Amino acid sequence: MPNKPNLDRNRHAPSIGTDLGLAARYLQQGLPVGMPTETVYGMAANALDAEAVARVFKAKKRPDFDPLIVHIGPNSPFREWVREIPTEAEALMAAFWPGPLTLLLPKTERIPDLVTSGLDRVGLRMPSHLMALALLDMLDFPLAAPSANLFGYISPTKARHVREAFGPELPYVLDGGDCEVGLESTIVGFEDGKARVYRRGGIESSALARVLGYLPEERIRSEEHPAAPGMLSRHYAPRTPLSILKSDQPWPELGSNVALILPLAEAHPNHANVWVLSQNNDPYEAARKWYACLREADQAGFSQIFVRMLPEHLPFADALNDKFVRAAAAP
Ligand code: TXA
Ligand code: MG
Repeated sequence: MPNKPNLDRNRHAPSIGTDLGLAARYLQQGLPVGMPTETVYGMAANALDAEAVARVFKAKKRPDFDPLIVHIGPNSPFREWVREIPTEAEALMAAFWPGPLTLLLPKTERIPDLVTSGLDRVGLRMPSHLMALALLDMLDFPLAAPSANLFGYISPTKARHVREAFGPELPYVLDGGDCEVGLESTIVGFEDGKARVYRRGGIESSALARVLGYLPEERIRSEEHPAAPGMLSRHYAPRTPLSILKSDQPWPELGSNVALILPLAEAHPNHANVWVLSQNNDPYEAARKWYACLREADQAGFSQIFVRMLPEHLPFADALNDKFVRAAAAP
């Protein structure tokens, strides 16, 4: 059969590469594919096919109460998959799509309940990564794609992070280079006619406010009924104990086997193992490098990792500090 990938061969040799045609064929057959986006890598599957989506939950060991974001391209007929789009959502789409913004909108029956964990709303996002857009354009269905990590672990920002985490259950990973944003999409929903932030991420609240005309409130966090598991207090976490230092907190007494992650350059105890995320003091660069650095530090066998928070007035401080706190939260 001309257009079928050799599934048997690939089952034994899960692969990584830039073959969009091969990725599309796996997806058309209901198998998941690792997909680059500008935020983090996703594990993509046909969002209109519940069986394909179930394979993603299984591969990630993801609990079924945790819904998936549905990725669309510029030509996707996404209006068929939602019942209504508030005016403010239209304005946010016009301003930030393609880009790191997910909108929660009431779904139609075309979106299987498994995708939304039975919730009435579906999270839609149009990624800006060119490879993701090209892939979406080759398909006649949207792609449900959670971050391509095992549930709860550090999100992947490089193709090899994805390849290393999964075996034959993920036959192919599209390599689109390092993710440019490095933090997940911001999630916005609408309640009582007002936009609310459900998860901080790649689009800052101040940028949303410029479009909305008001600063959106954050949806209260609840451990029992997380409206978004990005809201669970521990998430995206390393296995090594991680401690937070406030932006102005002096250095504590440090043991010998510790790692320090500093988002910006600063004077630090010189016997420590130090990563500076941005020597140029650029919070965006720090965000881009955070997950990969945390992963490297986590795998290096330190007894403890410290991370310095960003001063609150800096751009991206909200989103990045939020990730630090969640990664550090006790299990
Ligand atoms: O940047 C991103 O959003 C990345 C890339 C791959 O696009 N995806 C991502 O997916 O971060 P995931 O599954 O790791 O996180 C998605 C978050 C979860 O916390 C989930 O609960 C929330 O989005 N979410 C998805 N659909 C939802 C819905 N219908 N209602 C409430 N929360 C939803
Ligand atoms: Mg995730």
